[in-house]
Amino acid sequence: MLKPESKGAYYITTPIYYPSSNLHIGHTYCTVMADAMARFKRMTGYDVMFLTGTDEHGQKIQEIANTKGISPQQHVDEIVENIIKLWATMEISYDDFIRTTEERHKRRVQEIFRKINDKGDIYKGEYEGWYCTPCESFWTEKQLVDGKCPDCGREVKLTREPAYFFRLSKYQDSLIALFENNHEFLQPDSRRNEMLQFVKQGLEDLCISRSSFDWGIPVPIEESQVIYVWLDALSNYITALGWPEELEKYEKYWPANVHLVGKEIVRFHTVIWPAMLMSMELPLPEKVLGHGWLLLEGGKMSKSKGNVVDPVTLIERYGVDALKYFLLREYSFGMDGIYTNEIMLNRINSDLANDLGNLLSRTVAMIEKYRDGSIPAPDNGGRTGGEPAAGEMHETDAELAEIASGAASKVEEHMNRFAFNHAMEEIWAVVSRTNKYIDENRPWVLAKEEADKVRLDTVLYNLAEALRIISILIMPFMHHTAEKIRTQLGIGDEEAKWEDASVFGLIGQANVRKGDALFPRIDIEKELESLESMKTVE
Ligand code: MSP
Repeated sequence: MLKPESKGAYYITTPIYYPSSNLHIGHTYCTVMADAMARFKRMTGYDVMFLTGTDEHGQKIQEIANTKGISPQQHVDEIVENIIKLWATMEISYDDFIRTTEERHKRRVQEIFRKINDKGDIYKGEYEGWYCTPCESFWTEKQLVDGKCPDCGREVKLTREPAYFFRLSKYQDSLIALFENNHEFLQPDSRRNEMLQFVKQGLEDLCISRSSFDWGIPVPIEESQVIYVWLDALSNYITALGWPEELEKYEKYWPANVHLVGKEIVRFHTVIWPAMLMSMELPLPEKVLGHGWLLLEGGKMSKSKGNVVDPVTLIERYGVDALKYFLLREYSFGMDGIYTNEIMLNRINSDLANDLGNLLSRTVAMIEKYRDGSIPAPDNGGRTGGEPAAGEMHETDAELAEIASGAASKVEEHMNRFAFNHAMEEIWAVVSRTNKYIDENRPWVLAKEEADKVRLDTVLYNLAEALRIISILIMPFMHHTAEKIRTQLGIGDEEAKWEDASVFGLIGQANVRKGDALFPRIDIEKELESLESMKTVE
């Protein structure tokens, strides 16, 4: 099979996660969206680079490791292993995973520091903060609680340490121009306005090194200092591409098409990161998209509240496709959304077990019962395939064909706007229309009359054909389910191409094979009780 000609490079990134503790369902949200987009772009002919990773340096990580009585490296190695396992379980199709503790990254970040320094954008000054000696932590005035250390409640003292600063203020006007002139750079618009106001209020230079702890990349011009963790972390988007030593990938994929990030880190990605790139005279990413948060009914998910939802538990119970579908369908990009087990279970039952699962099992059962398992040829008025001539079709056939074959381009439009939920709705409009088609045409009634034999052939054919199209449309989002549908339709071996979802009438002779229910119906009350009983308070 020839690979479709590439439409060009497409580079998408997630934030690199802090390996402070294991990830929860909120973290998986962004990665699931990025994975869906990466798979979708690959399927529609792009040469995709999908990057994720872990942000492993900094004082916080060092403190956690100290509390555990292990080295920071040991600590991050343990957590990163779990993160990699989680992505494997979720079948996240990343092309590279960058750890900021890797040599390739550290070396290149030092180069970035040097470049910015050579430009004259770094100077030495004094970092001033409130220092808590037992905690070895600097705090800003605002972070103090009643003038005391927010961590241990003890006295703090005003301390100064020498540090390097990045001339962020120098880029203020260029950043204002960026937000004002390029509306696509940061979306949604509300975030763009927020950032524009923030920058207009005036930017201070940024402290980019610390000497009060050592878990970080050494400043190349003064090794007793370590590079500020955000400068280190943001650089991952180009260090992973080899910059500045190996330029092949960099030249192919940079600038990134999109950085997907949570709303609270938009500021780092749209102020500090562009200013760093401007200083290095490198192109800016095309787009930064700030997504909302998954909240629990009581507010934020947090390890300390013991209310985090473990994605592994959900996958073990309902499967990875169900979890991915739920995350993509339920939430609207850019907005916060509430997560409850009940909302999730209802989605799985109604959209997956009922609408899609039943459609497949009814179709396969009817083809088995009425046609010995063989998908019949449709009545095509004696033609040999392709588009039927106008006026020949039964009205419901025409409607089904139009909705099913028109979905791919609509899904594509929604995906290009990162409207994952609308893309899913579009696919489920085909599922609903196909279910309605069964009710309208009542194959069980047609089966009773010999005179309706040809009509029944067509109806069964159309059902199988609609399911073939659905199986392609869901491939970037739930590939196991897509494969199961194709196996049950008897077309499992054939390679499915995105373009084949836009033509109605392609499925040929095949023998259906009844399989297990795609999504077994869940007894929601019972399931909620078991999930509740599993909650742990740390
Ligand atoms: N290490 C930095 C990112 C550096 S990128 C150069 C970081 N890490 S994080 O682990 O704290 O967060 C990673 C991402 O997870 C953020 O985009 C954040 O918004 C996202 N989420 C954390 N909790 C979340 C929810 N409850 N819901 C949705 N996203 C959430 O920040």
